[in-house]
Amino acid sequence: MDDAIRLGLIGSGGQGQYLSEAAKITGQVELVACADLRPEAAQATAAMLGYREWYGNAAEMLDEAEIDAVIVATSHDQLQPAAMDAVRAGKHALVEKPMALTAAAGQALVDAARAADVRLMAGYTLRFLPERREMRRLLDAGAVGEITHITAGQLIGRMGGWLGERAKGGGPLYYVGSHALDFVLWMAGSPAERVFAEVTWAEDADVELDVSATIRFADGFVAQLITSQRMGGRYGWCDVIGSAGRLRAVWESPQVYVESQALPEYRLPTRIEVPPTAHHPAFPADASARLAGFKYVRSWGAEITEFVSAIREGRAPSIPGEDAVAVLRVIDAIFASAESGCAVDV
Ligand SMILES: NC(=O)c1ccc[n+]([C@@H]2O[C@H](COP(=O)([O-])OP(=O)(O)OC[C@H]3O[C@@H](n4cnc5c(N)ncnc54)[C@H](O)[C@@H]3O)[C@@H](O)[C@H]2O)c1
Repeated sequence: MDDAIRLGLIGSGGQGQYLSEAAKITGQVELVACADLRPEAAQATAAMLGYREWYGNAAEMLDEAEIDAVIVATSHDQLQPAAMDAVRAGKHALVEKPMALTAAAGQALVDAARAADVRLMAGYTLRFLPERREMRRLLDAGAVGEITHITAGQLIGRMGGWLGERAKGGGPLYYVGSHALDFVLWMAGSPAERVFAEVTWAEDADVELDVSATIRFADGFVAQLITSQRMGGRYGWCDVIGSAGRLRAVWESPQVYVESQALPEYRLPTRIEVPPTAHHPAFPADASARLAGFKYVRSWGAEITEFVSAIREGRAPSIPGEDAVAVLRVIDAIFASAESGCAVDV
């Protein structure tokens, strides 16, 4: 691994560990150092995954460890400040969603990464799920013709810990709604222009329970988005409907539904089974003890591979920081619309 990217981790919690393990199976990175505000979490992560050094302070790691790039996977309030320190220290950064709490903070990070000439990628994993990539392929092949409607959602059960605190960036809109929103923007391929939103707030916490938003796009169609923490389980979907047909993916199923007047093979409603290795390099998933068989390991592996390739090729990653800013602009507008009771320009 002479040309391996030397990796540091900021935020050694659940997702930081999963991404590190996925990074390991790509064989393209060297796990050099991990950090966490809780030193015991950094120490345990180093012992479990093989990071050579661990730190109780990310700034110290950025000063001392010999790393090229970082993964940032902290609570939402810390993603932008931690990533800002990293890019200013000249490190490439893969930053978990939502990357920042406001579009202005996200844009400041994009600007700092550009000034430091480092790559900045946002961790919108849904785009790497095989069935979602297949949906994108069919969209590009003209399956729906001109888009007329998009509906999407991402729903989970009640959220605890820091995810229940507004100051930490808790609530379903930042946590899972951002994923659905990024996917909608990726499908739409047109800038969001105006938002109207209804938000129901929790009585026992200062975060939202439900968000229902209508988003008008520059190309003239409208998307409807729902996110909630009131479901007794987890569910997510995206429908793209157009002048020639429709596409649907349902989280977490490996199928895509398609009906298309433009593609003769899909004139009748068809369910496509998408193999887990479709659209991805074939990683040896069984190389990882904890993640073996876990469906996201390949998608996270593909995400890391894209980040590493962007660094090596000196190009923007396929999910640049700008895309996270586009999501944050809509999130800003959703909260502003809920507060004013009016439609808000994005
Ligand atoms: N893409 C996905 O599929 C996916 C899945 C789950 C979580 N996530 C994202 O990953 C991120 C982390 O979520 P999680 O579930 O791992 O949370 P977590 O609470 O398990 O871990 C976060 C860790 O960050 C540490 N931390 C907080 N501020 C820090 C700082 N300034 N410096 C160093 N460490 C700090 C905390 O002590 C904690 O150990 C969030 O952005 C979340 O939305 C993404």
